[in-house]
Amino acid sequence: MENQSNASEKRPQGGSNESGGLLNSTFLPPFSLKGWLFVLAGLVPALIVGWVVFPMVLYSSQQQPFNFSHVVHTNPDIGIEGETEQELCMYCHYFREDGTFVGIPGMDTCTMCHDDPEFPYGQTEDEKIFLEQYVAEGKEVPWLVYSDQPECVYFSHIAHVKMGGLTCGQCHGDHGRSETLPVYKENRLTGYSIDIWGRNIAGYSKNIKPAEAGMYETEDDEQYLRTIETEQGEETYHIKMSSMKMDDCAECHTIHHQEQNNACFVCHK
Ligand code: HEC
Ligand code: HEC
Ligand code: HEC
Ligand code: HEC
Ligand code: HEC
Repeated sequence: MENQSNASEKRPQGGSNESGGLLNSTFLPPFSLKGWLFVLAGLVPALIVGWVVFPMVLYSSQQQPFNFSHVVHTNPDIGIEGETEQELCMYCHYFREDGTFVGIPGMDTCTMCHDDPEFPYGQTEDEKIFLEQYVAEGKEVPWLVYSDQPECVYFSHIAHVKMGGLTCGQCHGDHGRSETLPVYKENRLTGYSIDIWGRNIAGYSKNIKPAEAGMYETEDDEQYLRTIETEQGEETYHIKMSSMKMDDCAECHTIHHQEQNNACFVCHK
């Protein structure tokens, strides 16, 4: 022990002269001011291309068939049932008898209310498209799924919602409170939605943060708070995923003491 700490104390002392010399001679290129301006003149456009132009070219934008408002449809006044916000969601996004998740509801759910194509409830153009092109024709709506994972990924809602006790918002953010649908952006190379990798191309993740006392107490934030039993007692985290990459899945498993689910064959059956 003693020897080790001595050695590690000595090293920086001995090396300090040397590394100072190195810095002066090799690490800083002996450019003049003009030289540095050249470097910047190359660097700045490269950054703009990399951070602004490249993502714009990489993703193609697609519109949903028509707008759908979650605000309108999670209002109990229209006749959907549920005590909590999550129960209201599950009026449409329910689990079947066998435990499978219905996902985006099919026309049979919509026509519990929109059964007469001649009778719109509101006055929007979107409802007109919906009634004329889908209800009247008896066609399913071809929704684009923002969170659709690659074929090779195994994901089960019942494990996360029922067993894990997570709320929809912790993974899907505010989509369940949206009034208008975001543009669907598809990666031209992989064919995957931008929402899997996240809109933040720096990959800087702010998904899971320890909740400091008094920091997250508004009603809107409550759905993202989660108290987890740790060795030191209970700790509260603010969990709101903004992307759903492999690392993001694993990060949440780790704080939930579900490390056994971070083996390749668990998520890639
Ligand atoms: C009246 C039925 C209905 C109710 C109630 C409802 N939804 Fe939806 N939900 C839909 C339809 C239709 C879509 C497809 C359009 C879209 O993407 O918004 C959808 C899409 C979604 C998606 C997008 C999935 C994806 O990746 O593309 C999420 C997330 C979602 N709903 C969450 C919620 C949450 C959370 C609630 C409760 C606050 C809720 N929904 C309540 C009908 C409903
Ligand atoms: C419980 C009843 C109910 C169900 C189930 C329901 N709706 Fe509605 N929907 C309404 C009512 C009521 C309005 C009118 C609200 C208003 O205009 O104030 C409406 C409005 C709409 C509109 C126009 C307003 C807008 O932009 O959202 C569309 C489009 C729509 N619904 C689509 C759907 C689809 C698709 C489904 C199935 C996934 C569905 N609805 C399921 C009751 C329902
Ligand atoms: C642990 C994270 C997580 C939670 C919690 C969660 N989801 Fe999802 N959801 C996902 C992922 C990941 C996918 C994509 C699954 C796939 O492609 O196989 C998805 C897909 C969906 C879809 C689209 C399914 C389809 O393809 O039709 C809907 C709708 C949806 N979720 C709604 C909800 C609702 C409503 C809740 C709350 C009851 C919820 N989710 C809770 C992660 C989550
Ligand atoms: C917000 C936290 C969170 C996120 C994000 C999350 N998980 Fe999980 N996951 C859990 C928890 C908690 C459990 C344990 C549930 C239980 O059994 O109590 C779990 C369990 C699992 C299991 C084992 C149960 C089963 O279905 O066989 C798999 C597989 C899994 N997760 C896959 C994924 C994948 C794939 C993703 C990313 C697309 C993901 N998870 C994202 C929290 C999360
Ligand atoms: C906690 C769940 C989870 C675990 C554990 C996991 N993966 Fe993944 N993996 C994902 C998800 C989600 C994606 C899709 C999003 C992405 O590309 O990050 C993915 C994507 C991939 C892809 C790219 C597939 C494609 O079609 O783009 C490969 C390859 C892969 N994983 C290999 C592995 C290997 C090897 C391991 C073990 C070291 C592993 N994964 C462990 C969730 C997981």
